[in-house]
Amino acid sequence: MSEAAVVRLEKRGDIGVIIVDYPPVNALGPGVAEGIIACLQEGNADPAIKAMVMVGAGRSFIAGADIRGFGTARKRLPLGERPYDLLDRSAKPVVAAIHGFALGGGLETAMGCHYRVATKSAKLGLPEVLIGILPGGGGTQRLPRLAGPKRALEMITSGRHVPASEAINYGIVDRVVDDSADIVDAGIAFAREIADKRPLPRVRDNETKLQEARDNPGIFDDIRKSIARRARNQKAPYNCIAAVEAACTLPFDQGMAREQELFEELVNADEAKALRYAFFAEREVAKIPGLSKDVPIREFKNAAVVGAGTMGGGIAMSFADFGFPVKIMDATAEGLAKGMQRIRDNYATSVKRGSLAQDEMDRRLARIEPVAGYDDIAQQDVVIEAVFEQMDVKKPIFVKLDEVMKPGALLLSNTSALDIDEIASVTKRPQDVAGAHFFSPANVMKLLEVVRGSKTAPDTLASVMQLGKKIGKISAVAGNCDGFLANRSRAPFNSEMVILLEEGCLPAQVDKVMVDFGYPMGPFAVGDLAGLDVGYAGRKRRADANPNYRRLPIADKLVEMGRYGQKTGAGWYKYEKGDRTPHTDPEVTALIKQISAEMGVPQREFTDQEILRRLLFSSLNEACKILEEGIAYRGSDIDVMWLHGFGFPRYRGGLMFWADGIGVRDVYNQIAAWHQQYGERWAPSPFLRQLAENGTKLSAAKAPGIA
Ligand code: 3HC
Repeated sequence: MSEAAVVRLEKRGDIGVIIVDYPPVNALGPGVAEGIIACLQEGNADPAIKAMVMVGAGRSFIAGADIRGFGTARKRLPLGERPYDLLDRSAKPVVAAIHGFALGGGLETAMGCHYRVATKSAKLGLPEVLIGILPGGGGTQRLPRLAGPKRALEMITSGRHVPASEAINYGIVDRVVDDSADIVDAGIAFAREIADKRPLPRVRDNETKLQEARDNPGIFDDIRKSIARRARNQKAPYNCIAAVEAACTLPFDQGMAREQELFEELVNADEAKALRYAFFAEREVAKIPGLSKDVPIREFKNAAVVGAGTMGGGIAMSFADFGFPVKIMDATAEGLAKGMQRIRDNYATSVKRGSLAQDEMDRRLARIEPVAGYDDIAQQDVVIEAVFEQMDVKKPIFVKLDEVMKPGALLLSNTSALDIDEIASVTKRPQDVAGAHFFSPANVMKLLEVVRGSKTAPDTLASVMQLGKKIGKISAVAGNCDGFLANRSRAPFNSEMVILLEEGCLPAQVDKVMVDFGYPMGPFAVGDLAGLDVGYAGRKRRADANPNYRRLPIADKLVEMGRYGQKTGAGWYKYEKGDRTPHTDPEVTALIKQISAEMGVPQREFTDQEILRRLLFSSLNEACKILEEGIAYRGSDIDVMWLHGFGFPRYRGGLMFWADGIGVRDVYNQIAAWHQQYGERWAPSPFLRQLAENGTKLSAAKAPGIA
């Protein structure tokens, strides 16, 4: 695309309108910065133009720098010559007129302008930290001047998108107009009002709000402390803080230079590479190979959930949280009442913590309607079954749903492992049936695993993906097999962590390695939180079906002793009443030693690296089998699932991306060595061997036949 095409200047009477037109979201791609500068010069040179308005064509203002350009040889304009540096030097006023998104370099461009007008629901933010960098277009210097250092720190370290209706309270925008207003007209009207006003206000010159930090320089250490846990192992959040600190201690131009230095430290680091990868993997996962864009999406305005247990309640909350009315039913009135109470308690906890306003809780609760029976849900657009994970419990429910639900309703099962084809087979409309596997807690975890049965219709699949998006989930498609993509790829990890105990590790040691790696909690502590009885039931089912199934005697014994995890006050750890802190339990240590001795497993010491690789490589090997079978479309889909379903540290990209950092050949060789040592469960996936031979990255791998 030529420069002229991506940015143009149009005259509307005495106002010049600079239009950035780089679909789909007006990122600052090739030629855009140069185009803005050329239009700015043209507007200044034209005596008929008194003021300028900058707008984005299409659905958005400017979504930021072009992320695809980072880490490539593409040249960026040097400091001092970028639109961010030149806009406020314009002799004629420039008004940014914002709709849609003004993010990153987009908001930085707007802050370089003299004034900002925005539609009420336009979103403004500096989300660079989420891709491992900092706002490098003056955002760390101008936002503290506009909004004050404290607010700027909050926005920059969180990357939060702030609606214009809120941003106006912080001084980031000068005027908010109704969403129904034409943003170009609103910008022009504003420009006419201020066209003759001098001197032109420049954000760089206004230091009033910086005083807040000059009077109290402790705010920087305070925020460093407050983010320490979530920013573990990362550099970008700290460089963001350092850059804002520079805004408060250095003159503007020196602050800009410091921002650049801090930016350059980040942009090519592993952290930023991993986070950029995650950003694009999350967009790729929404694309279903072979599915035409014209597939009609089924209308969805409301939902029903069958089963008011923990999962069912969380799923109902997911709908209510995003504005959808949802009916919920249960096998018993008592179960329903208990489920509704759990939902109320969950919302009340959020209100108590301050993360939800009482009136918003009331609105959400009002959207969840407990109902007595199937007839009450028959007219809903989608129904999600979320009952006990047992085929003979689920099947009769689908028989009933088939009987009552209106034609065209989506019939979804929240199974995490059972055969979706078998479930669909009891209905006369298997084309409308799919899996919708939510992760616990369902209203919090962002992953939705959409399971494609052999008869699931393309429009069903597309509609479920769309539904996930509408309730704030990241949806990923998986094929039908035991455990689907997510749980099947995770299962070897779950086994391996217990096998490590047989060989001499202890739960706290394994947990520490994984927390140090970046997981929010160690896997044993997570097991206690989720409940150990669930895994036990799954193992029993698999062992009954397969005599060669590798049992986990230590894990089984714990459950048989009644240690189900936090809910019974004891699991891998023990817990004080009313406290979720895990404490090492000598009884468990003794049990591990005793069972290991009975099994005759030699005991030894483990390095952190060996523990980490034993867990992650086991899953990675399975992930390659999953890819080979076409259960997953892409290696990057597996990463998205691990990021959003299992808490894999985002700044490491995902399971496959992380392993690429080690090198696919080394990974293969290690797995092959463990195959020799430990036998069949480590048999390397032939697909992995192929990738190793070809030198193909795991994160770039695709299932056979996928373009
Ligand atoms: N650069 C390159 N491509 C981008 C992009 C960007 N900044 N923002 C979005 N895109 C692409 C997406 O990859 C996607 O491409 P695809 O259709 O080929 O998959 C397409 O635009 C549409 O994006 P979404 O599917 O995400 O559309 P949504 O409507 O769901 O979301 C959005 C829109 C909120 C703008 C979201 O895309 C987003 O968050 N974008 C990134 C914003 C960002 O991080 N900006 C900061 C960039 S870094 C920066 O500015 C540095 C500066 O300080 C110097």
